[in-house]
Amino acid sequence: MCGIVGGIAQRNVVPILLEGLRRLEYRGYDSAGLAVINNQQIYRKRELGKVKGLELLLEADPISGVIGIAHTRWATHGKPSTANAHPHISRNKIAVVHNGIIENHEHLREVQQKNGYEFTSETDTEVIVHEINHAMESTDGLLNAVKKALKKLEGAYALGIMSVDEPDTLIACRKGSPLVIGVGFGEYFIASDVAALLPVTQRFIFLEEGDIAKISINELLIYDAQDQLVKRPIKQSQLTADAVDKGEYRHYMLKEIYEQPFAISQTLEGRFVNNRLQENAFGHNAAEVFDNIKAIQILACGTSYHAGLVARYWFEKLAHIPCNIEVASEFRYRNPVLAPDTLIVTISQSGETADTLAALLEAKKLGARYALAICNVPESSLVRESDLVLMTRAGPEIGVASTKAFTTQLTALMLLVIAVGRRFHLTEIAEQKITSELFSLPGKIEQVLQLDDEIRVLAEQFAEKQHALFLGRGTHYPIAMEGALKLKEISYIHAEAYPAGELKHGPLALIDADMPVVTVAPNNSLLEKLKSNIQEVSARGGQLIVFMDETLATVNDENIQIVRVPQVDNETSPIVYTVPLQLLAYHVAVLKGTDVDQPRNLAKSVTVE
Ligand code: G6P
Repeated sequence: MCGIVGGIAQRNVVPILLEGLRRLEYRGYDSAGLAVINNQQIYRKRELGKVKGLELLLEADPISGVIGIAHTRWATHGKPSTANAHPHISRNKIAVVHNGIIENHEHLREVQQKNGYEFTSETDTEVIVHEINHAMESTDGLLNAVKKALKKLEGAYALGIMSVDEPDTLIACRKGSPLVIGVGFGEYFIASDVAALLPVTQRFIFLEEGDIAKISINELLIYDAQDQLVKRPIKQSQLTADAVDKGEYRHYMLKEIYEQPFAISQTLEGRFVNNRLQENAFGHNAAEVFDNIKAIQILACGTSYHAGLVARYWFEKLAHIPCNIEVASEFRYRNPVLAPDTLIVTISQSGETADTLAALLEAKKLGARYALAICNVPESSLVRESDLVLMTRAGPEIGVASTKAFTTQLTALMLLVIAVGRRFHLTEIAEQKITSELFSLPGKIEQVLQLDDEIRVLAEQFAEKQHALFLGRGTHYPIAMEGALKLKEISYIHAEAYPAGELKHGPLALIDADMPVVTVAPNNSLLEKLKSNIQEVSARGGQLIVFMDETLATVNDENIQIVRVPQVDNETSPIVYTVPLQLLAYHVAVLKGTDVDQPRNLAKSVTVE
């Protein structure tokens, strides 16, 4: 949700900020802006739409400066417009970029208007910059004014702030939204994500909750939430600038779909010794925690929630441990009851999803003693709030529609099922079988990727459709949900998933020749049941596309098109069946000409409620 980048250097920072914005565009892309201080004046450029628009604006009318801040927006308060785009400025003196939401903005706006501040946007952010300006009247220096102003703000923020009164100072603040400082040689940068700054540095300081940093060329001071001067470690990132390049692929999403065999092998890498899962992969005290738990509660959002839904089937079937799962935004406000000794498992690609983080904190308030995160970003807030962690190691995922993050989450969750299951129902033989299934996954997915051309042709049937239904049973019902989510996210076709057995209770009424019904049909114990459901659809003239195990007999029915999926082992087959559905959504979106990597209205890292 919104990307921030800023810098203070001995060279013009504008090209660095622009490149940073391009790399942060996955966080929001409805408008972009940039401001610098030069000669005691703030120069600002803003443009509706993507960063490219801002780039063109700057080409036509360049600005430059050795200190600057920039922003790419995902609108929360106020529609996407140039006036609402950041940076926001107070009386030509202070400029601010903001990621997060200020909850008491209406009250602050009223007071500030009475104090004579003029508002030029509908955003919650504008109150921040006026509040700092107001505080400057009664305090000494920008840093103290920021500290004073922040006390008035309720809500979440990552901020980059600069003032013409102190053109050699950049202020960075973090509360509830991520922010890193990139440490260069004789220069510093700030950003919402390390990816933005990889072209200029690989050394990062990760600000903690409540931190305020005063940054100048010669000095970096960080104050913690208690206003104590603190030292934060500099960490070396393993990522390189080209880790977030598209390479030869037309879209990031396609690249990330194709990276799945490698990504899954990375998830497994080094976590087994002599084919036996090592529990310290989850943290040094994992064994002790696993010994004490009696139930699992999974919390997540979006695609990560779908990974959790599959895991619930696995936990209960394979490990025989009670497992609940809930969308994080519901859990956090529902007054849930947690069974004693419940392990909270959060799942998140970014580790910054506001609802997932808040749900975890809520669970802790409710007395949860153990929390484990399945996450893709090592320094993320979720990782830091959790006792145990299993990194998915998918590598940076840029496409807004999640692909490799999902299949690596499922792989990581199966590792957790093994570790916990050992203490419950999972036999040594079953563990060995699942382990060997896991190691065969990269090869299986390579085979599925060979269906790409066939699926591209199939996608043509969807381009003119308005709706689609996805069916699955058991662990493949969440895969149907994920397939439907992918299709709606990037092709804007309305898609719904149903457990196939539920069809007769309503959705069958929707069936006609204009509603493609995509069905996931692996060769498992539910196949016969599923076949009956398929017949129910066909008998009513429904058009089915069935992703089916290659070993199964052909079906002679003109309403049914079969795509043969390489034969897969039982428990891990949801991971394999995900891939053709990703490819289907991708090709439909390409045919429809939508913005595959940055679909309308969405953003990747949802750091607001
Ligand atoms: C957004 C993204 C989804 C993602 C969800 C949860 O909605 O567009 O792709 O699944 O957030 O994100 P997380 O980072 O917590 O997995």
